[in-house]
Amino acid sequence: MSEDFLPIQGIDHVEFYVGNAKQAAHFYRTGFGFVHTAYSGLETGSRETASYVMAQGKIRLALTTALAPDHAIARHCHLHGDGVGVIALAVPDASSAYREATSRGATGAIPPTQMEDEQGVFRFAAVRAYGDTLIKFVDRSEYRGAFAPGYEARNGAGHGRARYKGIGLGHIDHIVGNVELGAMNRWVEFFAQTMGFSQLAHFDDEDISTEYSALMSKVMQDGTGKVKFPINEPAEGKRKSQIQEYLDYYHGPGAQHLALSTGDIVTAVTQLRENGIEFLRVPITYYQELEARVGKIDEPVDKLAELGILVDRDEEGYLLQIFTKPVQDRPTLFYEIIERHGSRGFGKGNFKALFESIEREQALRGNL
Ligand code: FE2
Repeated sequence: MSEDFLPIQGIDHVEFYVGNAKQAAHFYRTGFGFVHTAYSGLETGSRETASYVMAQGKIRLALTTALAPDHAIARHCHLHGDGVGVIALAVPDASSAYREATSRGATGAIPPTQMEDEQGVFRFAAVRAYGDTLIKFVDRSEYRGAFAPGYEARNGAGHGRARYKGIGLGHIDHIVGNVELGAMNRWVEFFAQTMGFSQLAHFDDEDISTEYSALMSKVMQDGTGKVKFPINEPAEGKRKSQIQEYLDYYHGPGAQHLALSTGDIVTAVTQLRENGIEFLRVPITYYQELEARVGKIDEPVDKLAELGILVDRDEEGYLLQIFTKPVQDRPTLFYEIIERHGSRGFGKGNFKALFESIEREQALRGNL
């Protein structure tokens, strides 16, 4: 068991650095069903950045853009395109978390800081993770505002974690990082040593290589199992790994996908498709073999086939999952929608069908 030198309460939020936060907010609202709950920008006295906080269930995403070309966030976007800049973890003590992580080898990025406004005290710190991604430690136990000092509430958002049902997305199930060939174990060690995470699962070439799109993956989780960070690296294959395609276009390591949980994936994906969100498709033969592979499930197979939802089963139960196409022009970040029925896995039985689908997309992009 990992010792609890760095207790984590969950994922507080994920901050994206984007080229146009106003338009990104529109996409997350009309596409994914998020509600805009807080804003910071010129109108609120923020001279350098504009930021939109989008909420649904327990999920909170901050979409931030720079207002000047030499700002660090503008440089981040120039190099990486739109992507995840910060993964923020809720902790009981941000300065203790920073001290524990840095004393175990993490590189500090933002020393323990506290900001105050009339809504209370907001405490945070950050360390560097893979690529230009930061892990931020956030303690909002004495803060009552909609998000953080400098942000104003929108759409009647109250303090704390307002719950907006949206299309029924509930929480962030896991966040996957892509790192360079040979770097996976270094980042596995990073999360183990500096934050006390332990390894939940690993997948190697034999599990997840198709003819071309090979990768290796290890899943790290915190002591409570609430925070799961799989780490992928490319593996040698006949042609270019999907992970290498990501690294080439993101220009380095970064977050590959966020998996968002739902209790009703059929309703959620129906709505997402109506909203114009694009998903990967597997061949119809996948569904002809489905019941033989996974046995009895609650959902009608014809409905899953119509929507393109995948199913996998392990000893503990089953899960339903589906993957979007990249949500920006570069083939980098995408989303997974997942509904778990007992299984704590990641859909290993779907890797082959899924990666063949990814390869078809890679081929269309001229990157296979
Ligand atoms: Fe995933």
